[in-house]
Amino acid sequence: MRDLKGRVALITGASAGIGVHVARALAKQGMNLALAARRPVELEQVAAEMRGLGVKAVAIPTDVADEGQLQNLVERTMSELGAIDVLVNNAGVEAFRKFEELPPADIRRTIDVNLIATLLLTRYVIPHMKAAGRGHIVNMASIAGKQGPAFAAIYGASKAGQIAFTQSLRSEYHGTGISASAICPGFATDGGIYEELRERTGKSVPWYVGSTSSEAVARAVVKAIKSDRADLIVNVPSLRGLFTLCSLFPRIGETIFRTASRKYLERVASAHK
Ligand SMILES: NC(=O)c1ccc[n+]([C@@H]2O[C@H](COP(=O)([O-])OP(=O)(O)OC[C@H]3O[C@@H](n4cnc5c(N)ncnc54)[C@H](OP(=O)(O)O)[C@@H]3O)[C@@H](O)[C@H]2O)c1
Repeated sequence: MRDLKGRVALITGASAGIGVHVARALAKQGMNLALAARRPVELEQVAAEMRGLGVKAVAIPTDVADEGQLQNLVERTMSELGAIDVLVNNAGVEAFRKFEELPPADIRRTIDVNLIATLLLTRYVIPHMKAAGRGHIVNMASIAGKQGPAFAAIYGASKAGQIAFTQSLRSEYHGTGISASAICPGFATDGGIYEELRERTGKSVPWYVGSTSSEAVARAVVKAIKSDRADLIVNVPSLRGLFTLCSLFPRIGETIFRTASRKYLERVASAHK
């Protein structure tokens, strides 16, 4: 979708972190926005900021783990903004813990918020995109979905699910005007989950694991929609090379990943509140 001006984007997880940067980047493209998250005050503040950029923005408080609220989110976006041209499934929670210590309820919660909500919301949005003959779905995955990390098994599984879902959508809707992209950020340094991990551990991720910024992630979202990219890894360039190596030589890739990230992630898991 080359021209975004005047089109409508629905963004989940828009009250904090990466979602706010994505909202800003799409507003600067001239898109009108429906913003969803649970915290109404923070969400309304983001909506007000976006209106200040000259676009329409409505805050629709939503718990994405509740299917009824997802249906309401789609209905309200359609009635208030008249279309959903872009859906950004960005709401997400982390689950960095030793696997055997993870409460089973947290396993369900992580999959519900990170994956099931993505599947259901897309299911409710696609009929509107089909009727309009256009649409783009952006799934905020992670490099954790490309190579499952230690001490983040459920998080990695949820993100791998989003990546496979994106591939299926691209194949199934090919030629209909509807497409999808998966964004795969590494640790993002300016607001978001990683900031919280840094506070918890007092440590930054080792330089050789790489990191990025929420702003770079937001730029990648715009690029993915405009250039219809299947998936974009947002991290230091060497990481992209590493993923190529992994697909050619999986054992070598696995060893490099484990060696680079395991110690840091174990520290994160041990510092869990
Ligand atoms: N930051 C990183 O380093 C990084 C790296 C790779 C991928 N990602 C992915 O990027 C996305 C955004 O992460 P972030 O770092 O920006 O996290 P964040 O700062 O913790 O923000 C998460 C957002 O999701 C919303 N959210 C959480 N649970 C929700 C629920 N049940 N219903 C509705 N909204 C909910 C939160 O809003 P409320 O609390 O108001 O509901 C918030 O707006 C996630 O999918 C994450 O997995 C992040």
